[in-house]
Amino acid sequence: MSQRASSLDELVALCKRRGFIYPSSALYGGLKGFFDFGPLGTELKNNLKKAWWESMVYQREDVVGLDSATIMHADVFEHSGHLQTFTDPLVDCRQCQSRMRADHLKEQRCMFCGSQDLTDPRPFNLMMKTTLGPVDDPSAVAYLRPETAQGIFVNFKHVTDSMNLKLPFGMAQIGKAYRNEITPRHFVFRVREFEQMELEFFVEPGSDDLWHEKWVALRQQWWVEQGLAPERIQAFHQPKEELSHYAKATVDLLYEFPHGFEELEGIANRTDFDLGSHSKDQKDLNITANVQENNDAVQRLAIKEAHHKEWVVPFVIEPSAGVERGVLAVLCEAYTKETLDDGQERVVLKFKPHLAPVKVAVMPLLKNNDGLVGIARSIVRDLKKAGLGWVVLEQTGSIGKAYRRHDEIGTPFCVTVDFETLETGEGDDRTVTVRDRDTLAQKRVLLRDLISWFNEQGL
Ligand code: GAP
Repeated sequence: MSQRASSLDELVALCKRRGFIYPSSALYGGLKGFFDFGPLGTELKNNLKKAWWESMVYQREDVVGLDSATIMHADVFEHSGHLQTFTDPLVDCRQCQSRMRADHLKEQRCMFCGSQDLTDPRPFNLMMKTTLGPVDDPSAVAYLRPETAQGIFVNFKHVTDSMNLKLPFGMAQIGKAYRNEITPRHFVFRVREFEQMELEFFVEPGSDDLWHEKWVALRQQWWVEQGLAPERIQAFHQPKEELSHYAKATVDLLYEFPHGFEELEGIANRTDFDLGSHSKDQKDLNITANVQENNDAVQRLAIKEAHHKEWVVPFVIEPSAGVERGVLAVLCEAYTKETLDDGQERVVLKFKPHLAPVKVAVMPLLKNNDGLVGIARSIVRDLKKAGLGWVVLEQTGSIGKAYRRHDEIGTPFCVTVDFETLETGEGDDRTVTVRDRDTLAQKRVLLRDLISWFNEQGL
C-alpha cells in the first residue's frame, strides 16, 4: 500500500532533516520568504535546471542561452511597465495589524485573526529596490529584477547582432528573480527570492497563436518527463481580466500540490509588447532600413527577415517556470509512504533517476573488511569517472539502515559488495548486488557491465 504526503508539513520536515531545504537566516530567527538549499537540495535543483537546459537549448537548433545581471536600470522597468503595474492588492487588518493580499482572503476575513475589520485594498509594488554607489539620491535607484525576461529583451539587439538567428528563434535564461511578496507561503511555493527558467521565443506576428499552443503542449510533456503524473497537471487559460499587463493570452500549467492545484509554470503570449516598449525613446539607432509602421524607434529591436525585406518586431511566446516550484512539485510527486509485504513501513522519494541527488550508494557488507571496502572504493571511483554524478561510499556496516536512508533521499540504486563478490572471480569478472529503490528487486550484475547497466536505467 502506498500513500502521498497528506500535507506539506511532512515534506518540510524531511527536507530539513535530510539536507534538502533549510529556512534561511535560521540562526537569527529566520527571514520570511527565503530558503537555503542544502547538499541534497542543491543537487536536485541543479539536476532540474540541467534537464530544462538540455531540452530547451541543446536539443533544439533554434534557441541560444543568456545569463544577464540581476540588478537592472530603473528605466528598464519604467519601459516594461513593471513600475506602474507590477502590483498586488494589499489590505491591513485593523485588529491584529497584519498585512495580506486581498485576493488570497476567504470571505473577506483576516487570514491571521479572522477579523473582518480590514482596510480597503491598495496596490503594492512587488519590486525590490536598491541604491548603487555612495550617493543615496533618486538617480542611484536600481531594481532587483522581478523576472529574468527583461534581461533577454534588453539584450535582444546584442544577441541578434552576434548570432545568426532567423525567426522563429529563442533565448533561454535561468537565473534569480526577486519579488517582495506580501504573503510568502506554502514552503518554497511562494518566496521572495527564487529562480526562473524562462524562454523568450520570438516568432513572426501572425504565427504567435500556433506557437503558443505548441509550447503549452511541449512544456506539459516536459513536466511529465520529470516524473509528474499527467492527471496532476492541468492547463488553465487565464481569463482576460487576470492577464498580466503585457500578455494577450496566458496558459498556466497547474500542479496538484498538497494545498491544491496551483500554478507551476505560465506560458504567455507577450506579443511585441516588450520589444516595442523598449524601442520607444531610444535615439541611438544604428540600423537604417525600411521600417514597419514608419516608426524609427521600433527598428532598434526589430529583425530583418530575408523573405520579408522589411523590419519585423517579433511576437514573443514565453514559457516561464519557477525552479523552486518545480523542485517542490517533483518532491511532492516523489514522496511516498509505503507498507511493505513484511509489514515494515518506509518513506521513499521516487525521483526519476536523472533528478535524484545521489545516483548510486556503494556499500561494503562489512565496514572493517579491507577486501570488501577496497572493491567498494574502486567501484565508486569508476562510476564517478564515468560521469554518473554524485556516487557515495556507505561504510556504515548496517546495510538495512543505509537502504532506509537512501530510500528517504531518493537514491535510485544501491550496490552491495559482499562475500559472493570476492568469490566470483577476479577484477571485472566479479559480481555485485544492485538493489532497485522502487521495486526492491535485487540483481547480480558483473562489474564490467555495471556502468552500461546504469546507463540503461537512465543514469
Ligand atoms: N516572465 C513571466 C513571469 O515572470 P510569472 O507567472 O509571474 O510570469 C513565472 O512567473 C513563474 O515563476 C511562475 O509560474 C512560478 O513558477 C514562478 N514564480 C513566480 N513568483 C514566484 C514566487 N514568489 N515564488 C516562487 N516562484 C515564483
